[in-house]
Amino acid sequence: MAVIAQKCPHIDVHIVDINEARIAAWNSENLDELPVFEPGLAGVVAEARGRNLRFSTNVDAGIREADIIFISVNTPTKTYGVGAGKAADLKFVELCARRIAEQAEGETIIVEKSTLPVRTAESIKSILDHASSDKATFQVLSNPEFLAEGTAIEDLYEPDRVLVGGEMTVGGKAAIQKLVEIYANWVPRERIITTNLWSSELSKLTANAFLAQRISSINSISALCEATGADVDEVGHAIGLDSRIGPKFLKSSVGFGGSCFQKDILNLVYLSQHFGLPEVAEYWEQVVKMNEYQKGRFTKRIVKALYNTVSGKRIAVFGFAFKKDTNDTRESAAIRVCRDLLEEQALLNVYDPKVPESLVHAEISGNSGEKHPGVTVSDDAYAAAEGAHAIAILTEWDEFKALDWNRIYDAMLKPASVFDGRNLLDHEALREIGFEVYATGKG
Ligand code: UGA
Repeated sequence: MAVIAQKCPHIDVHIVDINEARIAAWNSENLDELPVFEPGLAGVVAEARGRNLRFSTNVDAGIREADIIFISVNTPTKTYGVGAGKAADLKFVELCARRIAEQAEGETIIVEKSTLPVRTAESIKSILDHASSDKATFQVLSNPEFLAEGTAIEDLYEPDRVLVGGEMTVGGKAAIQKLVEIYANWVPRERIITTNLWSSELSKLTANAFLAQRISSINSISALCEATGADVDEVGHAIGLDSRIGPKFLKSSVGFGGSCFQKDILNLVYLSQHFGLPEVAEYWEQVVKMNEYQKGRFTKRIVKALYNTVSGKRIAVFGFAFKKDTNDTRESAAIRVCRDLLEEQALLNVYDPKVPESLVHAEISGNSGEKHPGVTVSDDAYAAAEGAHAIAILTEWDEFKALDWNRIYDAMLKPASVFDGRNLLDHEALREIGFEVYATGKG
């Protein structure tokens, strides 16, 4: 929304939320206090805020004044009842739709921005159509977001495509056109594609499923590389030169994380089951299973290399975010790896350039509020490595490459090991210093 405001100074963008603390943070004078760390975002907010970008808790006024409303609430995996563990929890979407139905005035376009199961637009439409008053009419569009965290601003400036789905009625087509016009302020027309509602909703889940599948595919091969002496980076490079495969998203890792991949695949699995397609469900579920296998395998390798026990040993964890350039830890592979290591009675010292100490503790303890006694958090990498037997690289932060690895080696117990879950570092250089190096997908 901040980018829309920046690119379209003639459009008034009003962001409303019931969470007062969150809105206060978005309004903070100190741009370091914005709730989301994202390269370039602070500059965009600074430019548009106070001009045509507003943040407030005035939800009802926001709804009444709007011509177009983007529903951008979270749709986590359901943790209770029917579909628990797989289906998307649409509670927040429904609450939004009901509030809009109550408050909206005039012709209003509702845009599904949240990632949703196929045919959710039908439910939203039904809620809106049953609105008690007749002061508003509605069109529902699907406009999924494809940006990735860490590169969100670039992705929005130059998207591969913008997708707008809507009903193929006269009113539906007019609504699609209105939204297309907004993006056309900076996105070339040929990159703005329009489809029917269900294709648009399904395209979002499918895109994420395909992306995650590529990672699980290369991660499955990484296990085979370790067993055979092949090198996963060499294999990835060799296959990526085939233009039908392409080079991107073939980086083997300690497992994919983030708030979307797992949730969206499980959602796809649930939908497939719901529509009586168990083979399709099973096919996609395997992508998530392979990811769990990869995360578990990483810890097993550490334990094996450290003479089959890490009990009482210090392990420095470098990186806790689910990828670099973000402070987001949702579903980060680091959570599972840390828990598995703690289960093996290791002592962990975690360092991440952007993730605050409280969040590390909260994620590891499952938000129980209690700090695990085996975990400490350092505010620099050198302190985290002090007296450690091993270092586990879990996030590919650039700054880890620039560390003084001789200094780190000197401060560690010997033999000093590095387990590079991201294939980030120069392994030969580390071996020359004296490190034992174990890298994902390298035998
Ligand atoms: C992902 C998609 O890439 C976006 O297109 C989508 O809009 C977004 O989900 C969403 O649905 O909101 P994001 O989760 O922010 O974006 O980050 P990615 O860059 O896709 O990375 C996801 C995970 O895969 C990270 O843990 C990353 O480290 C891992 N990854 C990525 C690999 O292990 N190997 C790779 O080659 C690429």
